[in-house]
Amino acid sequence: MTDFDRKALLRAAMKAREFSYAPFSKFYVGAALLSTDDKIYTGCNIENSAYSPTLCAERCAVAKAVSEGARHFVAIAVVGPEDSETTPCGVCRQVLYEFCDESLVVLCGGTESHYMETTLGELLPKAFRL
Ligand code: THU
Repeated sequence: MTDFDRKALLRAAMKAREFSYAPFSKFYVGAALLSTDDKIYTGCNIENSAYSPTLCAERCAVAKAVSEGARHFVAIAVVGPEDSETTPCGVCRQVLYEFCDESLVVLCGGTESHYMETTLGELLPKAFRL
């Protein structure tokens, strides 16, 4: 991944964060998933009055990608509050693992200049797969 890719992915995630529907937590999240054929799929969190149907930004992006035929990914950017390094929740880690391996790059922000870089393998060691 180049620095150009990192910035593009973080910027796409920040743009998606603008569409976040989070009236309950007010925790606004955007995600951008980069496929191996260089396409970016974005998502935002979508909360619900009944709470449990809430969809995280990462799973929103995965659903959009997979439903459009993409199944192979290089990286994902996740951005929550600007001063944070928001990491994917446990459920999203497992959902990402369904389509990615340990090497998936995960950018956890922030902003395009404030983020932490890790991998799915670091976030979900000894992951479950059938
Ligand atoms: N959230 C995400 O969108 N992604 C994560 O990985 C962490 C949590 C959302 C779900 C909920 O709308 C809000 O952040 C607070 O948990």
